[in-house]
Amino acid sequence: MQSTTGSSDSSTAQAFSTSWNNLPGGSVYTAAQFAEWLAPLSPEDFRGREVLELGCGNGSLMVHAADWEPARLVGVELGDSVRSARENMRSSPVAWEIVQDDLVAFESGGFDIAYCIGVLHHLKRPRAGFDSVVRNTRPGGRFHCWVYAREGNAVVRLVVEPVRRVACHLPWWVTKYVLATPMVAPYFLYAKLLSLVTAAGTNRLARGLGWLPLFDYSMWIARRDFAFFRHVAFDQLVTPQTAYISRTEVDDWLRSNPAIAADSTYVILRNGNSWKFGGRIQGG
Ligand SMILES: C[S@@+](CC[C@H](N)C(=O)[O-])C[C@H]1O[C@@H](n2cnc3c(N)ncnc32)[C@H](O)[C@@H]1O
Repeated sequence: MQSTTGSSDSSTAQAFSTSWNNLPGGSVYTAAQFAEWLAPLSPEDFRGREVLELGCGNGSLMVHAADWEPARLVGVELGDSVRSARENMRSSPVAWEIVQDDLVAFESGGFDIAYCIGVLHHLKRPRAGFDSVVRNTRPGGRFHCWVYAREGNAVVRLVVEPVRRVACHLPWWVTKYVLATPMVAPYFLYAKLLSLVTAAGTNRLARGLGWLPLFDYSMWIARRDFAFFRHVAFDQLVTPQTAYISRTEVDDWLRSNPAIAADSTYVILRNGNSWKFGGRIQGG
């Protein structure tokens, strides 16, 4: 196994490993969640192509990416969750590989598709991570990223962030069972209640409730059970490094990297509190 201690992100990656390596086997996401996260990319974009995931955790996204039938699927992960990622991919029919490495420094010949979901905002140098996503996409290929937004996360930044700064120094099981579990319970009830009220009411009522904190995000996560809520809360609290990226920063990343075809880029507000963005590399 490769040493990961030289990276400035190694403590973050090791913290995430405690999250990933203490979960039941299999993906934590549904196929529908994967498809929505990756859109506007679709199964046609993956089929028969070489695909790279940077920061693959326990392989939860790769499990679904494999169903889109890429010719080759490679995951890069700095932490020891490579162990659970390999376990989760073990019976996959596609040609796959999990590489333990720092994604910021990762060098490859370039992939047709490179995606990076939920990772850049945890890096010491998010911009350098983004440039690596672009660098590892071949000319004519497409890249796709997802990050926490600065916009729409006021409550999270106010309530969760102070707890995270303390929690990230505690043993993982204290963070998961003593902090994340009771902290997420009221939010679980809030999201489920909002979803029930909205489903039972009219479109007008849903629009009327749209001003409530985390409304869109709550509608999204309310489809899942308590274990998923807790997983998300634990993930937020366990990491020593989180940034909230503004639209202006995303625009700047996309505009200032000369490898990106200027007319190919997109930025999509997701669930009111995160950004999906991507584009195409020039040439090819
Ligand atoms: C929130 S998880 C997201 C994992 C996966 N993309 C998903 O959506 O399920 C962030 C992952 O990035 C990894 N990571 C953090 N810094 C990294 C780096 N410099 N190089 C590679 N992986 C890194 C962490 O170890 C963690 O598994």
